[in-house]
Amino acid sequence: MNLKDLYIDFFISKGHKQIPSSPVVPENDPSVLFNTAGMQPLIPYLTKEVHPYGTRLCDYQKCIRTNDLEEVGDKTHHTFFEMLGNWSLGDYFKEESIAWSFEFLTTVLHIPVERLGVTIFKGNEDIPFDQVSFDKWRSLGICEKKIVATVEDNFWIASDTGPCGSDTEIFYFRSEDAIPDFFDPEDERWVEIWNNVFMEFYKDKEGKITSLPKKNVDTGMGVERTTAILEGVHDNYLSSLWKDVISLIEEISSLSYEGNEKGMRIIADHIRTAVFIAADPAGIKPSNTDQGYILRRLIRRAIRHARGLGIPVDSDWDLRIANKIIEKYKKYYKELEENEQVVYDVLQNEKIKFNKTLEKGLKEFEKVSIDGDIKGDIAFHLFDTFGFPLELTIELANEKGLNVDTEGFYKKFKEHQEKSRTASSGKFKGGLAGNSEVETKYHTATHLLNAALKKVVSKDVHQKGSNITEERMRFDFSCDHKLTDSEKQQVEEFVNQWIKEDLTVIKQEMNKEDALKSGAECMFIEKYPDVVTVYSIGEVSKELCGGPHVEHTGVLGEFKIVKEEASSAGVRRIKAVLK
Ligand code: ALA
Repeated sequence: MNLKDLYIDFFISKGHKQIPSSPVVPENDPSVLFNTAGMQPLIPYLTKEVHPYGTRLCDYQKCIRTNDLEEVGDKTHHTFFEMLGNWSLGDYFKEESIAWSFEFLTTVLHIPVERLGVTIFKGNEDIPFDQVSFDKWRSLGICEKKIVATVEDNFWIASDTGPCGSDTEIFYFRSEDAIPDFFDPEDERWVEIWNNVFMEFYKDKEGKITSLPKKNVDTGMGVERTTAILEGVHDNYLSSLWKDVISLIEEISSLSYEGNEKGMRIIADHIRTAVFIAADPAGIKPSNTDQGYILRRLIRRAIRHARGLGIPVDSDWDLRIANKIIEKYKKYYKELEENEQVVYDVLQNEKIKFNKTLEKGLKEFEKVSIDGDIKGDIAFHLFDTFGFPLELTIELANEKGLNVDTEGFYKKFKEHQEKSRTASSGKFKGGLAGNSEVETKYHTATHLLNAALKKVVSKDVHQKGSNITEERMRFDFSCDHKLTDSEKQQVEEFVNQWIKEDLTVIKQEMNKEDALKSGAECMFIEKYPDVVTVYSIGEVSKELCGGPHVEHTGVLGEFKIVKEEASSAGVRRIKAVLK
């Protein structure tokens, strides 16, 4: 059995319910591009909401972290990874959490106790030393020399604000050397495998820490790292998770992994992440903004490295790798099978696009790099004309020992964005995944739908999430019942009436407090900056929102609800189209 199955079975045996992995693109959290930890989709339940599956949960969550995309190529970095997690939502706390982690590691995974070391919270002026965790680890047989207390490394929070708390981290001694008597978390032979966070606080934007209404446990264990450890390999890409993908790349390139590790790891990692983004229900396509831009960068960097290995890049090398990944993971993530063709189309289309300019771009790079370091406007030219994502230029430059003026690049990039914003009315680059005219219309329609639901259903209806593609809009809202046919009809009538009235959409910059006082709606108040953008539509709607929106509602066409269904407990979902 593999690690994921062992983990889930173990926590089910301890009274946990398995919850499905959330999509990689967060459904209800516009503040991040991707889920970066297992707890992210659970934030509402760690604070106040009641989870429909109960108070003991476990899962494996697809996560994407792209902040160190350029690091991928070494033995351990990945842009996509799976995080195993078990949660207590106001149920058990430190003692049970630690005892079960210990039992799983030592009796299910058969890790010898001597190879384990732990860190715990040392205590500061707000929160005392974590005596409970210390005593628990001692009682389980972890000797004092293997317990280290720290302040900075033993307090966990996902970003600047949110649920948080002290944690205990579990390390494994990954080396053939004799196990030292003392555990030293700074010694690289000790690697962290599991983090148990005791989430009992909430940090607000002023930095103030208050107690949460309930004491929770949030844990996270990385699948790739732990698998590599259990299999005794020092290169994650040599574990059973990757071996067959690497063998396939060896076959495609007629080269061996040894000597070509960097390129093969990048190809394997980036294609895997691209597969998961493209298969996600959010329907992301390569573009120059947000998640679409990450997808584009991953595919293009993989193509560049495939070329570096001598793979004919217009062959079906990428589709074969994607197919291998889909086959490996589809048992766990059904969207891979459902959207298999979508994934191939995304890869194929992006490859065709990039291949058109790649050759010329590389020639251009050779030319401009003769003069030394790459200036910002040159990097922008490579991006704009040849489709070179910035890190591709950086990577090429580094190979020649040259630097790139990234600040200059971003300056140019912004200037260009602003120009195209004003030049093409109706085409903006905003916080949306896509930025087409159709998507902009749908975005404005979500505001009208929100307003109509408040009128027809209840003024307590609140937006819980939305997702827009070229084809349709999806809108999640708090509501305790299935909408009746008459409610749906009235909602449609309101929206269509407002479209007919051709209401003007007005954008204003405001201080957040004033915006809220003026009655503007918003989804996650703590996530907005002090100065916010407020969009008003005639007298019917006023919302904090990054845009983009149409200038007047008359252009929207006819609004029609195509589906109304349950999304989660107390949340309904409407899918609608504009015709
Ligand atoms: N949320 C914790 C982490 O990501 C468990 O480390």
